[in-house]
Amino acid sequence: MKILILGVNGFIGHHLTKRVLAETDWVVFGMDIADDRLGDIVNNARFHFLEGDISINKEWIEYHVKKCDVILPLVAIATPKLYVEDPIGVYNLDFEMNIDIIKQCVKYHKRVVFPSSSEVYGMCTDQVFKEDESFLVVGPIQKERWIYSCCKQLLDRVIYAYGTRGHIQFTLFRPFNWIGPRLDSLFAAKEGSSRVVTQFIADLLMKHPIVLVDGGHQKRCFTFVDDGIDALMKILENKDDVCRNEIINIGNPRNQCSVRELADILKKIFMEHPKHRHDQEYSEIIESSSESYYGKGYQDIYSRKPNIEKARTLLNWEPQRGLDDALKMTLHSFLEENRIAL
Ligand code: UGA
Repeated sequence: MKILILGVNGFIGHHLTKRVLAETDWVVFGMDIADDRLGDIVNNARFHFLEGDISINKEWIEYHVKKCDVILPLVAIATPKLYVEDPIGVYNLDFEMNIDIIKQCVKYHKRVVFPSSSEVYGMCTDQVFKEDESFLVVGPIQKERWIYSCCKQLLDRVIYAYGTRGHIQFTLFRPFNWIGPRLDSLFAAKEGSSRVVTQFIADLLMKHPIVLVDGGHQKRCFTFVDDGIDALMKILENKDDVCRNEIINIGNPRNQCSVRELADILKKIFMEHPKHRHDQEYSEIIESSSESYYGKGYQDIYSRKPNIEKARTLLNWEPQRGLDDALKMTLHSFLEENRIAL
C-alpha cells in the first residue's frame, strides 16, 4: 500500500510514519515544512520525503494523491492560543488548504483518512461524546476559539457528503488529547502557545509558574500517542472495509483528570525525576482568568470524554496506557529532548 502523509513531521504524522515503516511493508510519501522530528526514518528506503509547503507544492501533492492508495491530510494549526491569536491563519491552513486536498481525492476517487477533532463536540453537555449522536456545540462568533472547531466540522461534513455519494471513501478519526514524546516544542511553550501537558512540563523545566486557567476545573482525557497510533494503524489496514465512511473517536476515557490534577501529577513526577530531585526551587501553581491568559476570544470546554464503543467494536481496540504512565513517559522524553536547550 502507498500512503501519502501531508504534515508528516507533525506530532501524529511522525509517530504514524515510524510505526508504518517498522511494522508493515507499506510505502510512505511524506511532505512537511520541517523534518526535525523525523530522525533516521529519512534514510528508510520506503520513505520518500519532500520538504515543502502545502500552499506552494501543489503539483507534487496532486501527483502523489493520484499515485497513492490512502491520503492523510494532517496539516493544521491545533493549539488553542493560536485559534484566538490568528483565526484567519487557522482558517486558511486548516480549512482552505485542506479542502483543496479533499477535492483532489474526489477527482481521483481516493480513500481519505482525515483527522477530525475532539474540538468539534465543543461545549456539548453529554457525559460522553458519541460520534453519530452528540450535538456539536460552539459559542458566539466573538468567541474566536471556535474557528478551529468549525473548520474541522465543515470539513467533516463535506467529506461525509462526498463519501456517502460515492466520490471518495473516508474515515474520520477524532483524537482526544493525545500526548507523548515530541508533542510540542520548548519554543512553542516559551511563547505560551503549547498544549497544556507540554506547557506545564516546560514551565516546570524553566521554573516558571504553572498557570491554571479559570481554576483548572476543566477535564480532559489524555491518551498516550502509542495507543492512538494502534487505532490509526487498524484504520489504515481497514480489515474487511469496516472503517468505510465511519467517524471514530480515539481517546482514553479512563484517563480523565482535571487540569488542576494534571498540574499536581506533573509537578510530582518532575520532583521525583533523578535530575531534578535536588533542585533548589520548583514552579508554583497559580491561577489566572481565561480572559487574561488567552484573551476575550477564548471559551473553554469544561468536560470532554469520548465514548469509544465504535473503536472497540470496529477496530477491536482498547487503549492500554494509564494516565500516570502516559504523563511520565511524556515528561521524561520532553526533558531528554531539551536537556541541551536549558
Ligand atoms: C485541544 C486542541 O484544540 C487540539 O490540540 C486538539 O484538537 C484537541 O484539544 C485534542 O487534542 O483533543 P484543549 O484540550 O482545550 O484543546 O487544549 P489545551 O491547550 O491542551 O488545554 C487544555 C486545558 O488546559 C484548557 O482548559 C486550558 O484552558 C487549560 N490550560 C492550558 C491551562 O489551565 N493552563 C495552561 O497553561 C494551558
